[in-house]
Amino acid sequence: MGLIIRSSRIHAAGCYTTAPIKQGTKVVEYTGPRLKPQDCVDLYDDSGSTYLFGMEGDMLVIDGHGMAAFVNHSCDPNCETDEVDGHVWIVATRNIAPEEELTYDYNLYDGEDLNDAPCHCGAKKCRGTMYEPEEIARLKRLARQGKAKAPAKKKKPHRRAA
Ligand SMILES: C[S@@+](CC[C@H](N)C(=O)[O-])C[C@H]1O[C@@H](n2cnc3c(N)ncnc32)[C@H](O)[C@@H]1O
Ligand SMILES: [Zn+2]
Repeated sequence: MGLIIRSSRIHAAGCYTTAPIKQGTKVVEYTGPRLKPQDCVDLYDDSGSTYLFGMEGDMLVIDGHGMAAFVNHSCDPNCETDEVDGHVWIVATRNIAPEEELTYDYNLYDGEDLNDAPCHCGAKKCRGTMYEPEEIARLKRLARQGKAKAPAKKKKPHRRAA
């Protein structure tokens, strides 16, 4: 299996396969330093992007440094993430053809404003945001109650797919 990083129509750089990938294949591991959530608060403050991935029930966060960190979000993805024995894998949810961009649903959580993670995946069923449905509901509820948090002080970690 060959993976390459190149320009993406979804966002900046993306991760593509040069060879066919079969459904169920563990494509690439999400690697990088593992941090406590409280130690990630200022990371990526000055960036429009985040490379953080919550794992172990959100008790630990991976600061993505490898190829997997270039996999963009889609609301109609061809991969999902799976936590196996302390490792996070990006796994194909269908057969993927050469030249396709790899994507998974970030299901972002721990947000501050529904508008701060717009989605440009282009899928017919795009939900318009990279937040997970439960987080969308929570942020809408907070906004209705006038309890939205102060402007973003931190970027949202990713979350593994349910
Ligand atoms: C882990 S990085 C992915 C790699 C990124 N494209 C790059 O070139 O560095 C995650 C960031 O990419 C951007 N991104 C990924 N998928 C996106 C999407 N569907 N719509 C909008 N931005 C997206 C967001 O800024 C997000 O915080
Ligand atoms: Zn989308």
